[in-house]
Amino acid sequence: MNNDSPLKAIMVVTVTALVCSVLVTVAAVTLRPIQRAYEDLERIRFIVRVSGLSESVETMSDLEVIGAFQDLEIRLVDLDRGAFDSSNNPDTFDAREAATEPQFRVAIPAELDVASLGTRSSLETVYLLRDGETLQRVILPIHGQGMWSTIYGFLALESDLNTIAALTISEQGETPGIGDVILNPEWQARWQGRRLYDEQRSLRFRISREVVAANTEDASYHVDGLAGATVTLNGVMNLMRYWFGPHGYSRFLQNLSETEGS
Ligand SMILES: Cc1cc2nc3c(=O)[nH]c(=O)nc-3n(C[C@H](O)[C@H](O)[C@H](O)COP(=O)(O)O)c2cc1C
Repeated sequence: MNNDSPLKAIMVVTVTALVCSVLVTVAAVTLRPIQRAYEDLERIRFIVRVSGLSESVETMSDLEVIGAFQDLEIRLVDLDRGAFDSSNNPDTFDAREAATEPQFRVAIPAELDVASLGTRSSLETVYLLRDGETLQRVILPIHGQGMWSTIYGFLALESDLNTIAALTISEQGETPGIGDVILNPEWQARWQGRRLYDEQRSLRFRISREVVAANTEDASYHVDGLAGATVTLNGVMNLMRYWFGPHGYSRFLQNLSETEGS
């Protein structure tokens, strides 16, 4: 066939496009499990960070992190019942995916949707740290809308199921240098020891730039806001209101504290 023939040009372009698309598809399919494994490892590192199992997760090898993670008990929680679920496998359940599946998707009533989620999974994966039979910590995944992105993190509670042991933010897409101050370890450290609920079981926790006198009852529920990032921090406050409110973990925490809390 003549090199100047339009037919030959079309054939060469079509074959090249086909070969390239096959190569890209094969690469995407074969690399997906590896990418997934890296994502899982990242998530596990964040969970171990708030578990209290190690002071220096940053310097731990991947194998050490996986070893520490195996000390945690992984359970699924049915949020509406506020009870553990035993009919699904917690090792493979993915709450983020489940929030899009008809079997697990729960629409959040507009008046309760303070974190602007729309839907959530009926089940969430939680992580329990025990010393023998005694509950030491519970680690709860949380997420909600920031200024530009969905913010994901984990909140660890002490065995009283009310006092914050640690917060970590695992994913966010807020503006670097502005909203991403929520990643600041010093700010996250200020969450430690703060409480969620008061004696009447009202959610008192809040993030604000109000000056709250130290050593007062109010101070025990209060984390300082950060100047210039109020929109992102409102997002974090709202996700706390959602996840520790009646449509989130509140019922589960109450039930668990009756059976296992200290
Ligand atoms: C380009 C741009 C990006 C911004 N990104 C963020 C952000 O990620 N998070 C945030 O809270 N505020 C961000 N802001 C600032 C907000 O618009 C708002 O001024 C700020 O949250 C108010 O905080 P303040 O009341 O502490 O001053 C951004 C502003 C601009 C112009």
